[in-house]
Amino acid sequence: MCGIVGFVGKKSFDEKGGVNGAEVVVDGLKRLEYRGYDSWGVAIPGEKKILLHKAVGKIGGFELSSAPELKGTIAIGHTRWATHGGVTEINSHPHLSADKTIAVVHNGIIENYQEMRAKLEKKGVKFRSQTDTEVIPQAIQIELKKTPDFKKAVRNVLNELEGSYAVAIVVEGGKKLIGARKGSPLVFGIGKDGYYLGSDVPAFLKYANKAIFLDDLEMVEADEKGYEIINITTGKKVEKKITKIAWSIEDAEKGGYPHFMIKEMLEQPMVLDKTAATSNVELKKAAAMIKRAKQIWVVACGTALHAGMYGSYIFALNNDINLRPVSAGEFPYFAKFVGKNDLVICVSQSGETADVMEAVKSAHDSGAKVLALVNVMGSSLMRASDYSIVTKAGPEICVLSTKAYLSQVAMFMMLSYELNNKIAAGKKQLKAIKADAEKILVKDSLAKIKKVAKGLARADNIYAIGRGVNYPTSLEACLKIKEVSYIHAEGFAGGDLKHGPIALIAPGTPVLVFVANDGPKGAPFGGAAKEIVSNAMEVKARGAEVIGISYENNQVFDRYFAVGDHGIFTGIVAIIYSQVLSYYIALEKKLDPDKPRNLAKSVTVK
Ligand code: AGP
Repeated sequence: MCGIVGFVGKKSFDEKGGVNGAEVVVDGLKRLEYRGYDSWGVAIPGEKKILLHKAVGKIGGFELSSAPELKGTIAIGHTRWATHGGVTEINSHPHLSADKTIAVVHNGIIENYQEMRAKLEKKGVKFRSQTDTEVIPQAIQIELKKTPDFKKAVRNVLNELEGSYAVAIVVEGGKKLIGARKGSPLVFGIGKDGYYLGSDVPAFLKYANKAIFLDDLEMVEADEKGYEIINITTGKKVEKKITKIAWSIEDAEKGGYPHFMIKEMLEQPMVLDKTAATSNVELKKAAAMIKRAKQIWVVACGTALHAGMYGSYIFALNNDINLRPVSAGEFPYFAKFVGKNDLVICVSQSGETADVMEAVKSAHDSGAKVLALVNVMGSSLMRASDYSIVTKAGPEICVLSTKAYLSQVAMFMMLSYELNNKIAAGKKQLKAIKADAEKILVKDSLAKIKKVAKGLARADNIYAIGRGVNYPTSLEACLKIKEVSYIHAEGFAGGDLKHGPIALIAPGTPVLVFVANDGPKGAPFGGAAKEIVSNAMEVKARGAEVIGISYENNQVFDRYFAVGDHGIFTGIVAIIYSQVLSYYIALEKKLDPDKPRNLAKSVTVK
């Protein structure tokens, strides 16, 4: 939930063609701000001392010209999402050893930091902060007394840490940049001017498009001459594949839009196109795992869980296959039922969600196989799974997941068609869905949605109802609304309304009603469309403002947003209306859709 960046130049910064590490790191931190924006800091190992610059708040507005002393060939930086210790300057990273010769930035949680801190304090070490991170530089300084080799001393300390870390380390007068990871992401970038470390690729994509995705317990040491990667436990050299990053930096930047959220929503038709182009090899391999499985679980969090739920309806209705969706945080209660012939499908945009990674471990402990639908190449989930399909959303920077959700549901659709050996038909239908999505994301349509959003911005509560595939659609619609506008919003299955929730409906209460023509074939009640429209009448009778998102209009709707009739896949298009509605509600409330309060892009702690 934090972002770290590091750089070491191939030339000294004050030589011709040299690069100031501080510039690279500050730029990189600004691109990683979505990973946490409570505070930030930069450290530069000078000859005589480590230059340190820290500040509470977002790095967005900081200009390096205001700190001209920040110059150096090596630099590390950190943008923080507080987990241990309040949001204060002293708790912000980088953290130094007592003698200020070692600086560390860290993403993750050191679970045994209290014991380590107590041990170090017994040796007379004075701590400055309340963070878990500070034990790392402090412990390295003590370790150096008995292990003069710096790299070995670092390894010894890292091997003592329990929990998760991605760290970048520099030492006073040092010429090397060290990076290491266990349980938190860290990517090593290879550029013409130097070497980079980043929690995510956007940190250095402007400078380098070749990267090595470090695996757990790997450490890289780089200097102007080159780099070496070793295993932290054994110290042995590790050979790693260099990946060419297909994303352009524009992909990872706003591209002229006011917010990442609107940019990424507008990219959704392209995401559907890219999903339709998923290689048959990937789909066949994943489908084979599904066919072989005795029980199939879908495990995810938040938006990704809603995509998994949607996938379970697709498989039930289109393939007669039972997928059991479970929130990753709740999975431990059911893990004992996972058998060795089962398949656990993990859905995750970041591939770093702690609860999902725990679920992978327990699935493997049961002997089950894990199939990942993951958006970030090289992520922990990708590397921990037996097989991964990379969803085709591209970098999703906004804290709120929109295009990644669409890419996940669309991937379930592709798998469903592959399972029926009808992938060509599936790709054709997805292209039709893409054309429909495009119609929503044009100027006039956006203006109509914005107008409705203005009214909704004054609501205290907003509800959404749907049946079948549109039950997860309703849940996802309401998650977006609450995340970005802080208005209480709740999704219900239409059939649940009369069992309590309808008591919430008062005159003027806005209710989104999602209607899909899931058709008589195989759908319960002869098709959810009729049933959900009658639910709409029930809430209407109690004064609700009914906003229909449907493949056909109905007099029960006070407002109507049209979607094409794509049967059980209609929700893939319908959700776009509620995403855009939530975006404009946030703007109407003068909120920043890219930086919703209390949230971070990737929940890498439990
Ligand atoms: C998305 O809008 C939410 N911010 C959040 O629920 C997110 O979907 C969830 O944390 C899962 O993240 P992941 O897909 O990276 O695993």
